[in-house]
Amino acid sequence: MTERSLILVKPDGVERGLTGEVLARIERKGYQLVELKKLQATEEILQEHYAEHQGKPFFQPLVDFMLSGPVVAAIFEGDRVVEGIRSIMGPSEPTVAPAGTIRGDLGRSWGAGVQKNLVHGSDSAESAEREIAIWFK
Ligand code: PPS
Repeated sequence: MTERSLILVKPDGVERGLTGEVLARIERKGYQLVELKKLQATEEILQEHYAEHQGKPFFQPLVDFMLSGPVVAAIFEGDRVVEGIRSIMGPSEPTVAPAGTIRGDLGRSWGAGVQKNLVHGSDSAESAEREIAIWFK
């Protein structure tokens, strides 16, 4: 099977009207959009999705942020799509993400507290399949 990645446009990206921009950047790179939906996440989905971060100080602020508005979930596929999308997104902290990346071009710090970095992308092909099963049951 071709490699797949799970993308989430986070509540800040949806609220700022950046969903199309985020998806377009990934499509323009040449990855294929195979599933797309907008939804309100639930605590249950997020506990599962971010299970590896349980116990970290940012865990509950991150879950609360992800519950603060609708998200857009998408599946993309293509050769080395996980690695490719992580390059397009840039590093987690938007203030220092390089120009040319989604987070570098469109994100910044909004003050103390939750890191609003617009987008989530799977960090491995294995994580992608686990996350796809959570968001596209
Ligand atoms: S770690 O511990 O190195 O794995 O953390 P990191 O990869 O940097 O981040 C994992 C996910 O947690 C999010 N994160 C935060 N969200 C909100 N507020 C704060 N302070 C915060 N710190 C980390 C980060 O954006 C990653 O989210 P995803 O959705 O996986 O990109």
